[in-house]
Amino acid sequence: MLPELDQIEQNALKALEPIQDEAGLESWRIAHLGRSAPLMLVFDQLGKLSKEERPVIGRRANEIKRALEAAFSARSEALRQLALQRTLQTERLDVTLPGRAFTIGRLHPTTSNMRSIIRVFADMGFQVYRSPEVETDEYNFGLLNMPPHHPARDMWATFYTNMPNVSLRPHTSPGQIHVMRAYAPEPIRAILPGMCYRYEQISARKETQFYQIEVLAVGENITLGDLKGTVSDLARRLFGPNMRTRFRAAYFPFTEPSAEYDFECLLCHGKGCAVCAWTGWLEIGGCGMVHPIVLQNGGYDPARFSGFAAGLGTERIMMLKHHIEDIRYFWANDMRFLDQF
Ligand code: DAH
Repeated sequence: MLPELDQIEQNALKALEPIQDEAGLESWRIAHLGRSAPLMLVFDQLGKLSKEERPVIGRRANEIKRALEAAFSARSEALRQLALQRTLQTERLDVTLPGRAFTIGRLHPTTSNMRSIIRVFADMGFQVYRSPEVETDEYNFGLLNMPPHHPARDMWATFYTNMPNVSLRPHTSPGQIHVMRAYAPEPIRAILPGMCYRYEQISARKETQFYQIEVLAVGENITLGDLKGTVSDLARRLFGPNMRTRFRAAYFPFTEPSAEYDFECLLCHGKGCAVCAWTGWLEIGGCGMVHPIVLQNGGYDPARFSGFAAGLGTERIMMLKHHIEDIRYFWANDMRFLDQF
């Protein structure tokens, strides 16, 4: 019977070798170590053996059983390792790779510039009032003392639309009418920031869209002195206590008298350089005392009320502050430019 046992052992071990997975291992276990495995039948028959044979065969059968169990565990451990190796290979994760940095969004330089100017006005007691970017002819010009066919309309290169009398605003001044109509007869101290559109030949100094801030104060005793004081104070609050301003007589249909105001050139401090064309001054915007007809159109009695208004090109101010020599950078979306702010 001993040779038979050797055969059982060899067969079992041989059958174990090619097994590659859990299912194969399990059927091998049932076939070679299960209840009706050839080895188990030997145990069943031990009782029928002679006294001399029984311990010899029993010991050998037990030996084989332990050997098969050991081979089984070794094989199943080997398969586990193999499977692990395979997943490590296919699902390789390199934890030493540096993480992907988050790109944190931030404000566009035009927006932060706009906000810092608005903050200065807020400190001076001005409120922000929003007005539309698409306007009727009446608001853009008519109510600002430019009736149809008034030649002053040509001062603004306006984008007209297919809709009769509807155009993109070329300046924030129509907002004056909106805010006056909203508050009359209360006094007003407001700024109206927003995008303006002009049909321009694009160049280093001109874009088809740009921001303006309209300034408007209406009350019972508003004077030209208030206008000059506000604009001069704005310059000092933006650029420091020594910043100088000057006013030059000008013409706008919606103010009387009208002026243009300049800030001292930041590059040469008035000495004269290429940026200011050797004048020492840079033009910032227009201003004046609100025309009586405009006050009336806003709902105020010009005999009782007066007001001042000013327009501010905000990109212009930023260009001065940061020595930006081309206005086209603002809307070109070039990260090399934007990253600097
Ligand atoms: N709206 C004018 C422009 O865009 C600028 C301006 C001039 C605004 C005089 C004013 C003003 O409020 O009083 O060219």
